Amino acid sequence: TVADMKGLKQGHLKIAVVTTAKYVIPRLLGPFCQRYPGIDVSLKVTNHNGIIDRLTENKDDLYILSQLPTDIDITSYPFLENPLVVLAASNHPLAHETNIPLQRLADEAFIMRESGSGTRRFVQKLFDEHKTDFKIKLELASNEAIKQAIAGGLGISILSRHTVALEGATGQLAVLDVQGFPIQCHWHVMHLASKQLSVVSNAFLNYLQGEGKQIIEQNSLW
Ligand code: PGA
Repeated sequence: TVADMKGLKQGHLKIAVVTTAKYVIPRLLGPFCQRYPGIDVSLKVTNHNGIIDRLTENKDDLYILSQLPTDIDITSYPFLENPLVVLAASNHPLAHETNIPLQRLADEAFIMRESGSGTRRFVQKLFDEHKTDFKIKLELASNEAIKQAIAGGLGISILSRHTVALEGATGQLAVLDVQGFPIQCHWHVMHLASKQLSVVSNAFLNYLQGEGKQIIEQNSLW
């Protein structure tokens, strides 16, 4: 009933998400909080290692990240695709090439996320698997700053496609057609297995897996 939705679901929800998910989760909070006016939310955005630390310290109700910890007892649910793409300035020489071998990227200057980030772990793994080295020109802990640096011609990077969802492919950044890309990652919602989920946490979990996913898919411009 409406009374049930509006009246009983009251309280505080604490969520912590990886930096790439900040392009998605805040947008989803609008419709969620309209539906449940009695719920207020705090959202922490930090990198992969930051999320693991918070989980270990039981600081939040729900967490969103791509790479689930294997040494902590958690309950997790797949939430949304998080493809990683190679981004370059739209006037970059590789922007009009197709089927670019990964090895070609070894000559490029990379703007790389910091170690401790989930994005960096994925990229490192890929290059290790292909026994390819990459040249890090600049290391940055901010997806937005990396996009600016790419647009400024400093180099190329590998980021979540969600970081360019609002711009689409028409801006100053181009998605390069590199073999093996996009890297297919998925975000998961997780919590400590021992955590007793509140009514509010359950409502958000259901929302994320139901309409939340649809809202994002409808609003992304890629
Ligand atoms: P990051 O994590 O924000 O630390 O790069 C990304 C992810 O886990 O998807």
